[in-house]
Amino acid sequence: MALVAVVGSANLDLVVRVPHHPAAGETVLGGDLRRTPGGKGANQACAAARAGGAETIFVGALGHDDAADVLLASLERAGVNTAHVLRVAAPTGVALITVTPAGENTIVVAPGANKALDLGPDQVDRIRSANVVLAQLEVPLHAITAAARARTRPARFVLNAAPARDIPAVLWSEIDVLVVNEHEAAQLAGSTADPDVLAATLLERVPAVVVTLGPRGSLVACRDAPIAHVPARPVEPVDTTGAGDTYCGVLAAGLARGMDLVEAAHQASDAAAEAVTRPGAQDAMTT
Ligand code: RIB
Ligand code: NA
Repeated sequence: MALVAVVGSANLDLVVRVPHHPAAGETVLGGDLRRTPGGKGANQACAAARAGGAETIFVGALGHDDAADVLLASLERAGVNTAHVLRVAAPTGVALITVTPAGENTIVVAPGANKALDLGPDQVDRIRSANVVLAQLEVPLHAITAAARARTRPARFVLNAAPARDIPAVLWSEIDVLVVNEHEAAQLAGSTADPDVLAATLLERVPAVVVTLGPRGSLVACRDAPIAHVPARPVEPVDTTGAGDTYCGVLAAGLARGMDLVEAAHQASDAAAEAVTRPGAQDAMTT
Protein backbone atom coordinates (compact mmCIF):
# COMPACT_ATOMS: atom_id res chain seq x y z
CA MET A 1 0.00 0.00 0.00
CA ALA A 2 1.18 3.52 -0.77
CA LEU A 3 2.54 5.48 2.18
CA VAL A 4 2.24 9.18 3.02
CA ALA A 5 4.55 10.51 5.77
CA VAL A 6 3.39 13.80 7.23
CA VAL A 7 6.00 15.62 9.29
CA GLY A 8 4.81 18.63 11.24
CA SER A 9 2.99 20.30 14.08
CA ALA A 10 0.11 19.28 16.30
CA ASN A 11 -1.73 21.94 18.31
CA LEU A 12 -4.77 22.05 20.49
CA ASP A 13 -6.90 24.79 18.92
CA LEU A 14 -8.66 27.13 21.37
CA VAL A 15 -11.34 28.68 19.22
CA VAL A 16 -13.68 31.61 19.93
CA ARG A 17 -16.20 32.97 17.47
CA VAL A 18 -16.07 36.77 17.43
CA PRO A 19 -18.26 39.44 15.77
CA HIS A 20 -15.05 40.92 14.34
CA HIS A 21 -11.31 40.50 14.95
CA PRO A 22 -10.00 42.72 17.77
CA ALA A 23 -7.86 45.71 16.76
CA ALA A 24 -4.73 46.55 18.80
CA GLY A 25 -5.81 47.45 22.33
CA GLU A 26 -9.41 46.37 21.73
CA THR A 27 -11.35 43.80 23.81
CA VAL A 28 -13.99 41.80 21.96
CA LEU A 29 -16.66 39.66 23.60
CA GLY A 30 -16.88 36.33 21.80
CA GLY A 31 -18.85 33.08 22.02
CA ASP A 32 -18.09 29.92 24.00
CA LEU A 33 -14.58 28.48 23.98
CA ARG A 34 -14.11 25.33 21.87
CA ARG A 35 -11.07 23.05 22.24
CA THR A 36 -10.52 21.17 19.01
CA PRO A 37 -7.64 19.17 17.53
CA GLY A 38 -5.45 21.13 15.11
CA GLY A 39 -1.92 21.95 14.03
CA LYS A 40 -1.05 22.07 10.35
CA GLY A 41 0.84 18.77 10.42
CA ALA A 42 -1.78 16.79 12.31
CA ASN A 43 -4.56 18.36 10.22
CA GLN A 44 -2.83 17.34 7.00
CA ALA A 45 -2.21 13.82 8.29
CA CYS A 46 -5.91 13.44 9.14
CA ALA A 47 -6.90 14.72 5.70
CA ALA A 48 -4.51 12.33 3.94
CA ALA A 49 -5.75 9.35 5.98
CA ARG A 50 -9.40 10.24 5.42
CA ALA A 51 -8.79 10.53 1.68
CA GLY A 52 -8.08 6.78 1.70
CA GLY A 53 -6.05 4.57 -0.58
CA ALA A 54 -2.76 5.18 1.23
CA GLU A 55 -1.45 4.54 4.70
CA THR A 56 -0.60 7.76 6.55
CA ILE A 57 1.95 8.16 9.31
CA PHE A 58 2.32 11.33 11.36
CA VAL A 59 5.72 12.37 12.66
CA GLY A 60 5.39 15.13 15.24
CA ALA A 61 6.06 16.00 18.87
CA LEU A 62 3.54 16.12 21.70
CA GLY A 63 3.90 16.77 25.43
CA HIS A 64 2.56 14.67 28.29
CA ASP A 65 -0.74 16.44 28.90
CA ASP A 66 -4.47 16.40 28.17
CA ALA A 67 -3.96 18.26 24.90
CA ALA A 68 -1.73 15.42 23.68
CA ASP A 69 -4.48 12.90 24.47
CA VAL A 70 -7.03 14.92 22.48
CA LEU A 71 -4.66 15.11 19.51
CA LEU A 72 -3.67 11.44 19.53
CA ALA A 73 -7.32 10.40 19.74
CA SER A 74 -8.23 12.57 16.76
CA LEU A 75 -5.33 11.26 14.65
CA GLU A 76 -6.31 7.69 15.47
CA ARG A 77 -10.00 8.32 14.70
CA ALA A 78 -8.93 9.53 11.26
CA GLY A 79 -6.91 6.34 10.74
CA VAL A 80 -3.45 7.89 11.04
CA ASN A 81 -0.58 5.68 12.23
CA THR A 82 0.82 7.44 15.35
CA ALA A 83 3.64 4.98 16.14
CA HIS A 84 6.25 7.59 15.22
CA VAL A 85 4.92 10.48 17.29
CA LEU A 86 7.50 11.69 19.82
CA ARG A 87 6.60 12.62 23.39
CA VAL A 88 8.75 15.38 24.83
CA ALA A 89 9.13 17.31 28.09
CA ALA A 90 7.31 20.45 26.91
CA PRO A 91 3.65 21.44 26.78
CA THR A 92 1.76 20.34 23.67
CA GLY A 93 1.39 23.16 21.12
CA VAL A 94 -1.61 25.45 21.41
CA ALA A 95 -3.22 27.73 18.82
CA LEU A 96 -5.38 30.72 19.80
CA ILE A 97 -7.95 31.19 17.07
CA THR A 98 -10.69 33.74 16.46
CA VAL A 99 -13.32 33.12 13.77
CA THR A 100 -15.65 35.80 12.37
CA PRO A 101 -19.21 35.23 11.08
CA ALA A 102 -17.72 35.18 7.55
CA GLY A 103 -15.61 32.18 8.59
CA GLU A 104 -12.32 34.09 8.48
CA ASN A 105 -9.77 33.44 11.20
CA THR A 106 -6.71 34.80 12.93
CA ILE A 107 -4.32 32.28 14.49
CA VAL A 108 -1.52 32.68 17.03
CA VAL A 109 0.52 29.53 17.73
CA ALA A 110 2.42 28.76 20.94
CA PRO A 111 4.56 25.91 19.52
CA GLY A 112 5.66 24.27 22.79
CA ALA A 113 6.50 20.62 22.07
CA ASN A 114 6.56 21.25 18.30
CA LYS A 115 9.82 23.15 18.76
CA ALA A 116 11.45 19.98 20.08
CA LEU A 117 10.71 17.87 16.97
CA ASP A 118 13.87 16.04 16.00
CA LEU A 119 13.86 12.90 13.84
CA GLY A 120 15.46 9.79 15.27
CA PRO A 121 16.64 6.69 13.36
CA ASP A 122 13.17 5.06 13.62
CA GLN A 123 11.43 8.02 12.02
CA VAL A 124 14.06 8.29 9.28
CA ASP A 125 13.78 4.58 8.58
CA ARG A 126 10.01 4.71 8.21
CA ILE A 127 10.12 7.80 5.98
CA ARG A 128 12.46 5.92 3.62
CA SER A 129 9.52 3.76 2.48
CA ALA A 130 7.09 6.68 1.93
CA ASN A 131 5.82 7.55 -1.56
CA VAL A 132 5.14 11.13 -0.52
CA VAL A 133 6.65 13.15 2.33
CA LEU A 134 4.56 16.19 3.27
CA ALA A 135 5.69 18.97 5.64
CA GLN A 136 4.77 22.53 6.65
CA LEU A 137 6.77 25.25 8.43
CA GLU A 138 5.52 25.06 12.04
CA VAL A 139 8.34 22.74 13.19
CA PRO A 140 12.14 23.20 13.15
CA LEU A 141 13.69 23.46 9.68
CA HIS A 142 16.31 20.81 10.53
CA ALA A 143 13.53 18.24 11.11
CA ILE A 144 11.83 19.13 7.82
CA THR A 145 15.11 18.92 5.92
CA ALA A 146 15.96 15.57 7.52
CA ALA A 147 12.55 14.21 6.52
CA ALA A 148 12.92 15.41 2.93
CA ARG A 149 16.37 13.86 2.68
CA ALA A 150 15.20 10.57 4.15
CA ARG A 151 12.89 9.89 1.21
CA THR A 152 13.85 7.38 -1.44
CA ARG A 153 13.44 8.91 -4.89
CA PRO A 154 11.22 8.95 -6.91
CA ALA A 155 9.20 9.53 -3.72
CA ARG A 156 8.20 13.18 -3.72
CA PHE A 157 8.70 15.87 -1.09
CA VAL A 158 5.75 18.25 -0.88
CA LEU A 159 6.29 21.40 1.17
CA ASN A 160 3.36 23.53 2.29
CA ALA A 161 5.24 26.75 3.10
CA ALA A 162 2.84 27.79 5.86
CA PRO A 163 3.27 29.88 7.84
CA ALA A 164 5.57 31.72 5.41
CA ARG A 165 9.13 32.05 6.65
CA ASP A 166 12.58 32.05 5.10
CA ILE A 167 13.46 28.71 3.54
CA PRO A 168 17.17 27.85 3.49
CA ALA A 169 18.76 26.83 0.18
CA VAL A 170 19.28 23.24 1.36
CA LEU A 171 15.53 22.87 1.83
CA TRP A 172 14.55 24.67 -1.40
CA SER A 173 16.64 22.15 -3.33
CA GLU A 174 14.65 19.21 -1.89
CA ILE A 175 11.18 20.50 -2.86
CA ASP A 176 9.32 18.60 -5.59
CA VAL A 177 5.95 20.33 -5.09
CA LEU A 178 5.52 23.66 -3.29
CA VAL A 179 2.00 24.43 -2.01
CA VAL A 180 1.31 28.02 -0.93
CA ASN A 181 -1.58 30.42 -0.61
CA GLU A 182 -1.44 33.78 -2.36
CA HIS A 183 0.03 35.56 0.64
CA GLU A 184 2.78 32.96 1.10
CA ALA A 185 3.49 32.94 -2.64
CA ALA A 186 3.94 36.73 -2.60
CA GLN A 187 6.24 36.56 0.41
CA LEU A 188 8.42 33.81 -1.10
CA ALA A 189 8.50 35.41 -4.56
CA GLY A 190 9.18 38.86 -3.09
CA SER A 191 6.46 40.53 -5.17
CA THR A 192 2.72 41.09 -5.21
CA ALA A 193 2.00 40.15 -8.82
CA ASP A 194 -0.88 37.97 -10.08
CA PRO A 195 -0.88 34.36 -8.85
CA ASP A 196 0.12 33.12 -12.33
CA VAL A 197 3.16 35.40 -12.31
CA LEU A 198 4.05 34.44 -8.72
CA ALA A 199 3.84 30.77 -9.68
CA ALA A 200 6.10 31.37 -12.69
CA THR A 201 8.64 33.09 -10.43
CA LEU A 202 8.58 30.23 -7.92
CA LEU A 203 9.01 27.70 -10.75
CA GLU A 204 12.55 29.05 -11.11
CA ARG A 205 13.27 27.40 -7.74
CA VAL A 206 11.08 24.27 -7.69
CA PRO A 207 9.70 21.96 -10.42
CA ALA A 208 6.01 22.30 -9.43
CA VAL A 209 3.97 24.95 -7.62
CA VAL A 210 0.38 24.87 -6.38
CA VAL A 211 -1.17 28.18 -5.34
CA THR A 212 -4.41 27.96 -3.38
CA LEU A 213 -6.75 30.92 -3.90
CA GLY A 214 -9.61 30.29 -1.46
CA PRO A 215 -12.99 30.64 -3.19
CA ARG A 216 -11.18 31.25 -6.51
CA GLY A 217 -9.82 27.69 -6.49
CA SER A 218 -6.19 26.88 -7.06
CA LEU A 219 -3.63 26.77 -9.81
CA VAL A 220 -1.10 24.12 -10.67
CA ALA A 221 2.10 25.19 -12.38
CA CYS A 222 4.75 22.77 -13.61
CA ARG A 223 7.81 23.49 -15.73
CA ASP A 224 7.16 22.86 -19.47
CA ALA A 225 3.35 22.75 -19.09
CA PRO A 226 0.66 25.43 -19.26
CA ILE A 227 -0.76 26.52 -15.88
CA ALA A 228 -3.89 24.54 -14.91
CA HIS A 229 -6.68 26.41 -13.11
CA VAL A 230 -8.68 24.22 -10.74
CA PRO A 231 -12.04 25.68 -9.71
CA ALA A 232 -13.39 25.63 -6.13
CA ARG A 233 -16.93 24.38 -5.58
CA PRO A 234 -18.93 27.41 -4.34
CA VAL A 235 -19.91 26.98 -0.67
CA GLU A 236 -21.24 29.05 2.24
CA PRO A 237 -18.14 29.31 4.50
CA VAL A 238 -18.59 28.60 8.22
CA ASP A 239 -14.95 28.23 9.29
CA THR A 240 -11.99 28.24 6.93
CA THR A 241 -9.58 26.97 9.62
CA GLY A 242 -7.70 23.98 8.23
CA ALA A 243 -9.06 24.30 4.67
CA GLY A 244 -5.52 24.65 3.32
CA ASP A 245 -4.47 21.65 5.40
CA THR A 246 -7.31 19.56 4.00
CA TYR A 247 -6.15 20.54 0.53
CA CYS A 248 -2.53 19.55 1.21
CA GLY A 249 -3.36 16.23 2.85
CA VAL A 250 -5.73 15.13 0.10
CA LEU A 251 -3.27 16.30 -2.57
CA ALA A 252 -0.49 14.20 -1.00
CA ALA A 253 -2.71 11.13 -0.73
CA GLY A 254 -3.68 11.50 -4.40
CA LEU A 255 -0.04 11.73 -5.46
CA ALA A 256 0.81 8.66 -3.35
CA ARG A 257 -1.97 6.74 -5.11
CA GLY A 258 -0.38 7.63 -8.45
CA MET A 259 -2.59 10.51 -9.58
CA ASP A 260 -1.00 13.33 -11.53
CA LEU A 261 -0.76 16.71 -9.83
CA VAL A 262 -3.75 18.31 -11.58
CA GLU A 263 -6.00 15.31 -10.90
CA ALA A 264 -4.94 15.30 -7.24
CA ALA A 265 -5.56 19.08 -7.05
CA HIS A 266 -9.18 18.58 -8.17
CA GLN A 267 -9.79 16.11 -5.33
CA ALA A 268 -7.99 18.37 -2.88
CA SER A 269 -10.08 21.35 -3.95
CA ASP A 270 -13.37 19.47 -3.45
CA ALA A 271 -12.33 18.23 -0.01
CA ALA A 272 -11.24 21.72 1.08
CA ALA A 273 -14.55 23.26 -0.06
CA GLU A 274 -16.41 20.67 2.00
CA ALA A 275 -14.24 21.37 5.07
CA VAL A 276 -14.99 25.11 5.16
CA THR A 277 -18.70 24.39 5.60
CA ARG A 278 -18.11 22.96 9.09
CA PRO A 279 -16.44 24.33 12.24
CA GLY A 280 -12.94 23.28 13.27
CA ALA A 281 -9.96 21.84 11.42
CA GLN A 282 -9.79 18.05 11.88
CA ASP A 283 -13.41 17.97 13.07
CA ALA A 284 -14.53 19.38 9.71
CA MET A 285 -12.95 16.67 7.54
CA THR A 286 -14.94 13.89 5.92
CA THR A 287 -13.90 10.50 4.61
O1 RIB B 1 -3.92 25.64 9.43
C1 RIB B 1 -4.72 25.68 10.56
C2 RIB B 1 -3.93 25.32 11.77
O2 RIB B 1 -2.92 26.28 11.97
C3 RIB B 1 -4.70 25.30 13.07
O3 RIB B 1 -5.28 24.04 13.34
C4 RIB B 1 -3.68 25.76 14.09
O4 RIB B 1 -3.38 24.80 15.05
C5 RIB B 1 -2.46 26.20 13.28
O5 RIB B 1 -1.46 25.24 13.28
NA1 NA C 1 -13.47 24.14 8.88
